[in-house]
This record gives sequence, C-alpha cells and structure tokens, in this order.
Amino acid sequence: MGAILNVFRLRIGGVLAQVVVLLSLAVYSSYGGGCTFPEGWTGRWFQSGNNGLIDINSTHIQSKGECSETESYDKFLLYDRSEDCYRCMVIHEKHKYVLQYKETYCSPKDSLSTICELISGDAPLYSMFRKEPRPVPQQCPFHPAPFTFTYNRGSSDCTNPPSRAESCTDDSRLLLRYMACPDVPGTESNIEELVCLATWKEGSTRYLVGKIAQVQRRNSIVSDEDTYRCFIYKGQHSDKSMTYYIAQSGDATCNGLSSPTDGSRTMKLTNSDDEHNRCHFPSWIVEHHKWYSLDRTHQYRFTTKNATLKIMNEDGSVDEKRLVCHSILEHKDKKHITLIAHVTMGCESGHACLKFYRREGNVLELQPSSNLTELAQDACTAGHQMPYITLITTSLTPMRCPIFGRYSVLNSLADRRQRRQQLAIGAAAEGSGGGEEAGRQCAPGEHDRASLGCGAAQDSIEFKSPCGDSTVYTCYGSWSEGGVGFLIAAPVARSSLHPRTFCFMYSTAARNETATAGAGGNGGGGGGAPLLALSAVSRSCNRSMVPGRDGDKAYNLTINGTCEQSSKYNSLSHRLAPAAALVVALIAACVR
Ligand SMILES: *[C@@H]1O[C@H](CO)[C@@H](O)[C@H](O)[C@H]1NC(C)=O
Ligand SMILES: *[C@@H]1O[C@H](CO)[C@@H](O)[C@H](O)[C@H]1NC(C)=O
Ligand SMILES: *[C@@H]1O[C@H](CO)[C@@H](O)[C@H](O)[C@H]1NC(C)=O
Ligand SMILES: *[C@@H]1O[C@H](CO)[C@@H](O)[C@H](O)[C@H]1NC(C)=O
Ligand SMILES: *[C@@H]1O[C@H](CO)[C@@H](O)[C@H](O)[C@H]1NC(C)=O
Ligand SMILES: *[C@@H]1O[C@H](CO)[C@@H](O)[C@H](O)[C@H]1NC(C)=O
Ligand SMILES: *[C@@H]1O[C@H](CO)[C@@H](O)[C@H](O)[C@H]1NC(C)=O
Repeated sequence: MGAILNVFRLRIGGVLAQVVVLLSLAVYSSYGGGCTFPEGWTGRWFQSGNNGLIDINSTHIQSKGECSETESYDKFLLYDRSEDCYRCMVIHEKHKYVLQYKETYCSPKDSLSTICELISGDAPLYSMFRKEPRPVPQQCPFHPAPFTFTYNRGSSDCTNPPSRAESCTDDSRLLLRYMACPDVPGTESNIEELVCLATWKEGSTRYLVGKIAQVQRRNSIVSDEDTYRCFIYKGQHSDKSMTYYIAQSGDATCNGLSSPTDGSRTMKLTNSDDEHNRCHFPSWIVEHHKWYSLDRTHQYRFTTKNATLKIMNEDGSVDEKRLVCHSILEHKDKKHITLIAHVTMGCESGHACLKFYRREGNVLELQPSSNLTELAQDACTAGHQMPYITLITTSLTPMRCPIFGRYSVLNSLADRRQRRQQLAIGAAAEGSGGGEEAGRQCAPGEHDRASLGCGAAQDSIEFKSPCGDSTVYTCYGSWSEGGVGFLIAAPVARSSLHPRTFCFMYSTAARNETATAGAGGNGGGGGGAPLLALSAVSRSCNRSMVPGRDGDKAYNLTINGTCEQSSKYNSLSHRLAPAAALVVALIAACVR
C-alpha cells in the first residue's frame, strides 16, 4: 500500500523515479507475503524453552517472520521484518498436532536454496506441540491393557515389585502405577496418567507425543514443560502376550531418544490380560443392545461380542464406565444372573459384582457392588450390594396394570407441593390475596380420585381432580417383591420425545401401620381402613423409599368401587365392612 501511494506521489518526479519505485515494489511483492503456510498449522503452539506460545497464521510464524518463498512443501524462506533479514525453516508436519523444524540464523537477503543450504545435518531439531485449537486426544497405541511393567531411570531396572499400567474408560489415557523397588535407589511409587496426543512413524521408528499428569498432585499447577513428553516405542507379539518397549524423553522435546530401549526413562510393558476367556452377558440382557436408566440420564450399551457394557451419558458422547464380563457365578433361570465384571471408571479399575434381574416387560434391574476389588474372586464377597438401578429399553410396550379399581385419594404429597407452587405463583402474579381466595374452590391438579387398570386395555392409571382435569399414565411392566409392588409407568399426555418414566411402588397397610409391612399381616387388627399406599419415583425403584410417604409423588388411596361399578361403593366405603374386605382381597391379589 505504502509503495503504491509513493508511486502517486512521485508521478510528477519524472519517469526514472517512477521506474525505481515500481521496481522496488516488484521486488517487495515477490519476497513479502509471497507464500502461505498450510491451513492446519494456524493456531498456537508450545515449544520447549520458548517463552509463551508461538502463534502461527496463514502468513506468519510469530518471532520467525512472514512466509516469503516456499519450495517442495517443507522449505520456507521467512522474512523477519523487524530485523530486515531472512531465515530458512525446514518444517515437517509429523502429525496434525506436532511440527518439527530446523532453521538458519537470520541473514541478509538471498535465494531460498542458498539460505536453506546453510542448515547442517546436525542442526538442532525443534518440536512444536499444538495447544490451540485444543487437540483432541488420540487412542494410545498400547493394547490390550492392563499391563505389568518394569522401568529404568538411568540406574538399573525396577522389576520387583512390578509396576502396573491400566487403561482408562477413555482409550486416549493410560494410568501408570509406578512401584518403588527397594533394591533400586531413586525409585518411588507414583501414579501418572498419560494422555496420548499424537503418534507417527519414521522409517521403522514409532513416535508418540503425550502429556503426563501426576495423579496425586492433580490440583497443582504444572507447566507445559513438565507435561509434554515424547516417546519411541516398539510392540512385540509373542504367543499370547504383547510386549512394548518404550523410551521416554527427559523434557518436553523429542530429543535424546534414539531407540525404544534408550531414553531418559525406559519401560517394558507386558500385557497381563488374564481375560482371554471373557464371558458374555446373557441373551435376555443383550437382546436389547441399548438400555436406559429410568430417568434417561444414562445409556447402558452392550458391545464387543456381548462381553462389554458401556455406561455413557444420555447422548452417548461420554463414556463413564466400561464393564467387561469376567466370569459368571450364578445363572439359574433366564431371569437372574450374578457375575463378576472388570470395571474401568475414568482411570480407576477393578472388579465388581453385578446382579441383573429381568422384570416383566422391557425392564431390567441391575445391582452393582459398591466397591471395586483388585482381585476378581473378592468382588462378590467383599462390600455391599448397591441400590437397584432400573433399566428400560428405548421403546416400551403397554401392558396390563397390576392394580385395578376405582379409588379415592385420601391424601397426596405431589398435589400438596404442586398446590403450594400454584399458590405462590398466583400470589406473585396478583400481588394481593385475591387470587388465593379464587383458587380455593377448584384446584387443578389436586386429584381426589383415581382409576387404576380400568378401560378396555387395562393398561392405564388415571388421577382426576374435581375440576375435571386428569393425569393419565400407561403401565409398562410390573413385579412384586416382599409385599411391595413395582410398576413402571409413564404419563401419556407428554408430547416430549422422552417422557418421564416413573417407578410406582405400592403396598397395602392399615392406616396406622408402617407401609412396608409384609402383605400377610395387613388389614386384620387395628380397625383402621386399609390403604393403598402409592409412590411415584422418577430415578429408580428405590427400595429405601416408603410407598405413600416418599417419592416424587405419594398418595394414600382407599377403594371406592371396581372398574365396572360406578357409585355403589361410595364415599362411605370405610364404614361398610364388605367394602373393606373387598379392598383387602383386591390389594392382596394385586400385590401377589
Ligand atoms: C498473521 O499474523 C501477523 C502477525 O501477528 C499479522 O500481522 C497478520 O495480519 C496475520 N495475518 C492473518 C491473515 O491473520
Ligand atoms: C450377542 O447377543 C445377541 C442376542 O443374544 C446375538 O444375536 C448376537 O449374535 C450376539 N453377538 C455375538 C458376537 O455373540
Ligand atoms: C468401600 O469404599 C468406601 C469409600 O471408599 C469405604 O469407606 C468402605 O470401607 C469400603 N467398603 C469395603 C467393604 O471395602
Ligand atoms: C399415607 O399414610 C402414611 C401412614 O399412615 C403416612 O405416613 C403418610 O404420610 C401418608 N401419605 C401422605 C401423602 O400423606
Ligand atoms: C396403631 O393401632 C394400634 C391398635 O389399634 C394401636 O395400639 C397403636 O398405638 C397404633 N399405632 C399408632 C402409631 O398410632
Ligand atoms: C433412595 O431413597 C433414599 C431415601 O429417600 C435416598 O436417601 C436415596 O438417595 C435414594 N437413592 C437413590 C439411588 O435415589
Ligand atoms: C366414590 O365414588 C362416587 C361415585 O364415583 C363418588 O360420588 C364419591 O364421592 C366417591 N367417594 C369418595 C370418598 O371419593
């Protein structure tokens, strides 16, 4: 631009001056902005020893200069405007996240080939690792974990006790558990996490660049100099195992590595996978590859020859746990199985005991053990069983409900909560007490009646309010256990793609007994009217909740007729002995 302006200014200054300026303009443009760097290089790069990150855009490399001329894709002549000199850089893209280069000092203008010839064979090789845009970690090249390993930090091999390398849920991470060897000075037990960023091959040499994090000092601030490391590795197949020889750089460069057995630190990994005879999850589980937790926050996906269960977040994007079937302990019928699985959670791993129960309909329950054990044989003996996790398939089929009849709502928890909310909203909206007064006569959502399993298909539950509004649920499967009935149901009216599914838990009890009492002892003594205590829970069929008392919604109901009857058994039902007897009979039948 400046040069062009000059041309205009000098127009009056005679032909000669103009020619000189035009010439200098031509020279300038052939050396300035004359080339561009590959698009993928744009970003910010870390280089060991450099203060701050190095910015690269299509035309500039920060503190090196602007692209002036290029040849055969790897040689670049850069013009350093501040020093008014030229340097040659030979840049190799080893991986989209790794650039390596050699360079000359900045020298007066000359041709690209002349300046580039100044790079001698033993000129230092610099490595740059991409920081921004943030690299996506790549799968680590060491399979199959877990491994045991020995290591050497310059003195002798630390072999006893062996160290362990374990995979993480995420294939781009490997957990290295270093052990201290009493006979090798300078060894210490330590846990490091390797995040693999880039691998490439040069001739027969394989390289890996990764970041090392100290797991026990996770929260301390560590510099890039401390985390980036370069590796050379070699894999060796033997009969049944896999061995990797790995050399690790001593700093955040790829220098000082010559072979997989020669580096600032070397390791020898041998896979200790004793899981060649992996078991398979039974067909009654894997006939649906994908299951959801009741609240649909998690996906349970069976993969890899039905031997692996992956637990992921709802859209399947993040793996949270990976469970590989290790051995089956008990599998009597096609409804119940107890097995041991090798579990990987983040970078933690161990064995867990899993119990699966097939319930009616497309419903499973899973009961995992609480703690991971190192040894498989301890998984089902140590620790406690955890709460049940209710699993459902993607699409559910309506089924007959397990409870039938018309009921009156004695009291309800959900409705009270909802009512309170409505009042609060109403009061806020109206500013004064007027709205509250109006709301008292008819409160939508304050259900006073329910019909369970009525209608032709017998697959729905309906709660009605005196205002005429109602909430209808469809039944999708039920079972009972220890006098408590369980029912999986979801509201009908929801047009949402994933309607909220509930576990309804119900039991019968005399009015002043605790609701969980066994089915046999109910209804007899006390003289209180029998109740159908019902709770809806959205997360799982939580056994520690008491029907009618806990849960997202809780109701105490008394019967007020069969589905067919309309008003024979009216509000006075608790006074009529035959009706009370009928209630007990009905409920007992339902629970069974
Ligand atoms: C590249 O960076 C240089 C120096 O930071 C800047 O002057 C130039 O405008 C940038 N070019 C592009 C295309 O962004
Ligand atoms: C996994 O299980 C399903 C259902 O039983 C079966 O159809 C499929 O063939 C199994 N896959 C493998 C690889 O065993
Ligand atoms: C299970 O883990 C918890 C928390 O880590 C621990 O407090 C508890 O003692 C462990 N239980 C068993 C049986 O190992
Ligand atoms: C239902 O009855 C039980 C036992 O009498 C009581 O503890 C519970 O609070 C009642 N539920 C509601 C929603 O009021
Ligand atoms: C329940 O009823 C029995 C017998 O009627 C009575 O003795 C008992 O005190 C009552 N329990 C409660 C908690 O009200
Ligand atoms: C089950 O219910 C109990 C009691 O309400 C609660 O403390 C617990 O967190 C619930 N468990 C789950 C897994 O929701
Ligand atoms: C029982 O049902 C009849 C008719 O459906 C109704 O009039 C009556 O109010 C109900 N009783 C109660 C206690 O809700």
